[in-house]
Amino acid sequence: MTDHANWIPTDIDVERASPARVYDYLLGGGWNFDVDRMMAQQAVRSMPWVGDLARHNRQFLGRAVRFCAQAGIRQFLDLGSGMPTAKSVHEIARETDSSCRVVYVEQEPVAVAHGALILAGVDGAEMIGADMRDVDTVLTHPATASRLDFEQPVGVLMASSLHYVLDDAEAVATVERYMAAVAPGSHLVLSHISDNQAEGSEEVKRLVELSKTTSSAGVARSREWIEGLLAGLDVVKPGVVYTSQWRPDKQLRLVKELPAQASLLAAVARKP
Ligand SMILES: C[S@@+](CC[C@H](N)C(=O)[O-])C[C@H]1O[C@@H](n2cnc3c(N)ncnc32)[C@H](O)[C@@H]1O
Repeated sequence: MTDHANWIPTDIDVERASPARVYDYLLGGGWNFDVDRMMAQQAVRSMPWVGDLARHNRQFLGRAVRFCAQAGIRQFLDLGSGMPTAKSVHEIARETDSSCRVVYVEQEPVAVAHGALILAGVDGAEMIGADMRDVDTVLTHPATASRLDFEQPVGVLMASSLHYVLDDAEAVATVERYMAAVAPGSHLVLSHISDNQAEGSEEVKRLVELSKTTSSAGVARSREWIEGLLAGLDVVKPGVVYTSQWRPDKQLRLVKELPAQASLLAAVARKP
C-alpha cells in the first residue's frame, strides 16, 4: 500500500472492504487496506478475469471521455468516480482541450480524501463527497455550480457505478434526472455489470453475491434493461457492447478471448 499515513479519514470502517478501494487495488493502485486486498483475492476466485474487468472498464472510460471531448464536450460530471488514479478523467479530457472541467462525485471517504490530495492545485477539477442518488445535492453543490455550465453540453459519466443503485426504479430516475438537467448535446457514458446469459454469467452471479459483503452491494442487470435506460437518447455506434468492444484503440486481446468476460456492458448516448 502507498505510504500515506495521514490520508486515512478517521471516520471510515477499515474492517469492511469498499468497492472503490478493491477496484483501486485491482487496477494496481495503493489506496486500499488489507481487507480490500483480501476481498480482491476472493473476487478473483469468484471471477478469475475480474482484474481484466477492471482494466477494460477503465480503458473504456478513457476512450469514451476522449470521444466526448472530440465531440466538443468541455465539462464532465463523473458520478461514482472512484479514485482519480493515473489517467483520470480531467487528464484525458485535457489532452483534447486544456480548458476541460471535471466534477468528480464519490461517496467513499478514502476516495474523496485521495481526490482532495490529487486535485489540490488543479484548476477546474474538484471532487465532491456525495451520494450520486442525491441529484439535487450534486447539481447545486458549489463545486458543480461554479465549474459546470448547464447551458452547455456535459459529459455525464456513470462508469461501473449505476449497478450500486440497487433499486431499478431509483436507478432509472437517477439517470433521467441528470439527463434532464443537462443541455442537448450532452453525452451519457455508461458501463454496467450484466447478467445476460453469455458465458461468464455464473461468475457474475458469484461476484454480485460477494459484493453484498462489502460496504456497497451491486446488482447485475440485463442488456434489455440497459438498452431501455437509453431510450430517448441517441446511442452512438457501436451501440451497447462489452467494454472491450467499445471503439477499441487496437484489437484488444482478452486473457480468455471472450468479450463477454469483460462482464460490463458499455454505451455512450447523446441527448438530442
Ligand atoms: C467500480 S468503481 C468505478 C470507478 C470509476 N467510475 C471507473 O469506472 O473507473 C465504482 C465507484 O462508484 C462509487 N459509488 C457507488 N455508489 C455510489 C453512490 N451512490 N454515489 C457515489 N458514488 C458511488 C463507489 O464508491 C466506487 O468508487
